[in-house]
Amino acid sequence: MAAGEKLEQAALRLRASQRPVFLTGAGVSAESGVPTFRDAATGLWSKYEPTELATPQAFQRDPDLVWRFYQYRRQIAAPAKPNPGHYALAELEALKPDLWIITQNVDDLHEQSGSQHVIRLHGRLRDSRCSQNCKGDPTLIDLDKFRLNSPDTAPRCPYCSARIRPDVVWFNEMLPLPVLEAAWSAISKADLVIIVGTSGMVHPAADMPMDARDRGVPVIEINPQPSALTPVADLWIDQPSGVALPELAHRVTALA
Ligand code: OAD
Repeated sequence: MAAGEKLEQAALRLRASQRPVFLTGAGVSAESGVPTFRDAATGLWSKYEPTELATPQAFQRDPDLVWRFYQYRRQIAAPAKPNPGHYALAELEALKPDLWIITQNVDDLHEQSGSQHVIRLHGRLRDSRCSQNCKGDPTLIDLDKFRLNSPDTAPRCPYCSARIRPDVVWFNEMLPLPVLEAAWSAISKADLVIIVGTSGMVHPAADMPMDARDRGVPVIEINPQPSALTPVADLWIDQPSGVALPELAHRVTALA
């Protein structure tokens, strides 16, 4: 099936859908030039293993090292701006009020582009929280408000003095329960799932489209490369999301 036909098929399904769910991964931010974890772990950081920089054990062992790595990641990610793919999703949400995005990304480009229905499975790089969540899950701390924005040492929670950490999910860490519940609730109501830019290697994110497919919900994938989830999809659009999503939004709007 030619690319145009695939996009037409996807547009017809999306137009007919009342509760579409998009599952996004790093690929949706690739055209924004967002450095991935692997991109950041280069230069002087290349001598560290991910398990020395992004696990609860690493933070326990050397909170200042982990804090410095995340301050560096924030610094190199800051200039990234939403790309046409992000804006297309925000445009589609305006057309489809029950559209939800479940993202694995820790950048905030979905929100920056205007999407409001965003469920963030792995947290947000720019947010910091008390490592003990002393005021509830999550206890977010505004580093500017408390003037704690120290580049070299992990600051301490103004409420309980525990170390402050980035509000992202680390390797071998459980996802926050409220976020998991919200994601599974959205997936259980979805009448269409569109996977955008994920290798589908990380769970439980990768389980969600499979659950939908097992309930007979149509699944579409947008990814220039095949992924672990391509076999789950009924339709695979092998194009970059920055091209396919705006084209999809245009066709759905034209059909409206
Ligand atoms: P990956 O880096 O594993 O996969 C990115 C996917 O995006 C690949 O399948 C690429 O083919 C695809 N891709 C690249 N450019 C694209 C484009 N322009 N348009 C569409 N797709 C494109 O990133 P994720 O699958 O998101 O976990 O990784 C999932 C998780 O693994 C991350 O959230 C992170 C990492 O460990 C945590 O941080 C907990």
